[in-house]
Amino acid sequence: MYIVFEGIDGAGKTTQIELLKDWLVNNGFQVETVVEPTDSDIGKLIRKLLQDENATSEYMQKTLGLLFAADRTLLMNDIESFQKENKVVISDRSFYSSLVYQEPADWIEEINKFAKIPDMVILLDLDLKTSVSRTEGKDEFENEEFLSSVKDKYLELADKHDNFTVIDGNSGPKMVAHNIKIKVAPLLGICKDCITD
Ligand code: TYD
Repeated sequence: MYIVFEGIDGAGKTTQIELLKDWLVNNGFQVETVVEPTDSDIGKLIRKLLQDENATSEYMQKTLGLLFAADRTLLMNDIESFQKENKVVISDRSFYSSLVYQEPADWIEEINKFAKIPDMVILLDLDLKTSVSRTEGKDEFENEEFLSSVKDKYLELADKHDNFTVIDGNSGPKMVAHNIKIKVAPLLGICKDCITD
């Protein structure tokens, strides 16, 4: 099982991934969490470039698109191994991030054609102003105008793809976690009525 969290910067993915992981472990599942960009050499280069003042320029975005795809290709090998061991993989981001942060979409799809399609994508949809106030503003992508277009593209993707489920990220961490459990439970054969928190 490959479950992915997506959302604009500051959407609360990190917190929710930990909460979901703990809940699944308590339900007897073996869980592995992964993060994109990874901590590979390519991932480290990506994190450095994200702070470059030209990060949103056309050529830097194309370069980042290629690097994200390369970093992801290595990660797919790990995910495949975890899946073979019957583990639930929870990922912070996937190729859908490239589809909304980089462009053009047809090219991004092409260079990501070896990326696995997630079984479920949990899109944490957050108010823009809250998102920007939660980010440290250290990456060039963490500005309102850019994130506004990213948010719109996410919602378009969610409309088009059945594996997406949109969760309102504005309702407080506990409520968000509860709503996520309700969506994930049927996927893993966990009884919905047994969700107590
Ligand atoms: P990160 O520090 O993980 O941000 P956050 O914790 O807020 O998710 O940095 C990831 C940044 O990289 C984030 O701004 C989104 C961006 N990104 C892309 O532009 N394309 C991609 O394919 C991926 C995976 C991330």
